Amino acid sequence: TKDNRKFSVVIAGGGSTFTPGFVLNLLQNQDRFPLRKLKFYDNDAERQKKIGDAVAIIMKERAPEIEFEYTTDPKEAFTDVDFVMGSIRVGKYHMRSLDEKIPLRYGVNGQETTGPGGMAYGLRSIPAIIQIIDWMEEYSPNAWMINYSNTIAIVAEACRRLRPHSKVINICDMPIDIMTRMAQICGLKDYHDLDFNYYGLNHFGWWKGVWDKKTGKDLMPELKKYVSKNGYWVGGDFDKDTEPSWEATFKKAADCYALEPNTLPNTYMQYYYYPQYEVKNADPHHTRTDEIREYRQKIVFGECERIVKEGTAENNMWDRNATHSEYIVDICHAIAYNTGEKFLANIPNNGAISNMDPDSIVEVPCLFTSHGVEPMATGKAGIFQRGLMMEQQTCEKLVVDAYEQHSYEKMWEAFALNKTVPDALVAKKILDDMIPENKPYWPELK
Ligand code: NAD
Ligand code: LMR
Repeated sequence: TKDNRKFSVVIAGGGSTFTPGFVLNLLQNQDRFPLRKLKFYDNDAERQKKIGDAVAIIMKERAPEIEFEYTTDPKEAFTDVDFVMGSIRVGKYHMRSLDEKIPLRYGVNGQETTGPGGMAYGLRSIPAIIQIIDWMEEYSPNAWMINYSNTIAIVAEACRRLRPHSKVINICDMPIDIMTRMAQICGLKDYHDLDFNYYGLNHFGWWKGVWDKKTGKDLMPELKKYVSKNGYWVGGDFDKDTEPSWEATFKKAADCYALEPNTLPNTYMQYYYYPQYEVKNADPHHTRTDEIREYRQKIVFGECERIVKEGTAENNMWDRNATHSEYIVDICHAIAYNTGEKFLANIPNNGAISNMDPDSIVEVPCLFTSHGVEPMATGKAGIFQRGLMMEQQTCEKLVVDAYEQHSYEKMWEAFALNKTVPDALVAKKILDDMIPENKPYWPELK
């Protein structure tokens, strides 16, 4: 390391299924991002305890010099921290399930971060994230928050309006995940091996260029050829743990590419380009939430239980596969040591995409420094992309309007305008079903 500093990190949403993998990742990276303290914060004590007790054993075995604790007390959690990781899911999987299933009742996409479900989730997340920012600023005024709690586009718009000077960076792992696939397709290892130009909104964007970082070779021709046939599906050993719905998603990228072959699409474009296909292939009684409950949640909580019961974390599942959250460590490292490395972030446009409004939240390459993120100019959006983005970002803005004004009308307009919703009456029915379910989390919409 470059100096003697060691950092204190709190993970907000300590009970998240991603937490143990992230912790193992932090431990594997002590040479470049050393810790003195690690804390978890969650508002569900019982859920967090399951993860926390297993992680306590991991920490005792592997890094006894790093102080570790988990708490539900905000003051304890946010005091003396350098980085806050935002990994919360407001309403947990119960609400995600409703976000997915309510739209499907009306033949509309049911998806975590897109369409009405994504907007409903975004509206739930706003007050919780703002509260965490405020605690961070009260108890650790110099800290940075790296937020990846969804719905990122909406959370970022709320931050832009309500906490414009706060040290919050909203990031997403989907492009990282796809770039690791691109690297594999081109015979490289992972996203670290690629240089890229990308623009769009969160879960709504396109690669304009991809290069081999070392040689500068343009990889777009090779990638386009591959993606046109296989999407981002790699297969083999690389994909042996990939769940069926993600297999379908990575393969579907071939059809998304076909519509706009000058760029390479983010996988989430499938919900906007092919909503009828998505709905036809969805089971309204068994959605992604159920798949996660049956797979990831079971595995993660099962593994934590095993660690606690056996009193050791030897041979745990994350030792074998803990690369998922490496980009979060990359980002902390870049901010801590002012490296100016390039990653994607969701920030106010201010000219980064030359033909989009300055106050749109966009996802573009940024240089990560100790004073925050410096957006890079990505040029002009294509006419097709611009049209799509104008519509989508207006939906995201309307959700934040609905939050600020407690406005039923704004939320209805947000749903009605969305590309995934065919009709204002359908939008209204979905919204009316969602309102009572979201009562504990949403402002009262009048
Ligand atoms: P999860 O439900 O497993 O965990 C979220 C945790 O947040 C729960 O323990 C819950 O009790 C807690 N929580 C909810 N509201 C809270 C609040 N107001 N204050 C504190 N804690 C609160 O969810 P997950 O599937 O692990 O996802 C976590 C978040 O990360 C989501 O927003 C998800 O969309 C996002 N995400 C992260 C990654 C990643 O790479 N880490 C990838 C995809 C999605
Ligand atoms: C997750 O929980 O893994 C998501 O955020 C994305 C998904 O649907 O798998």
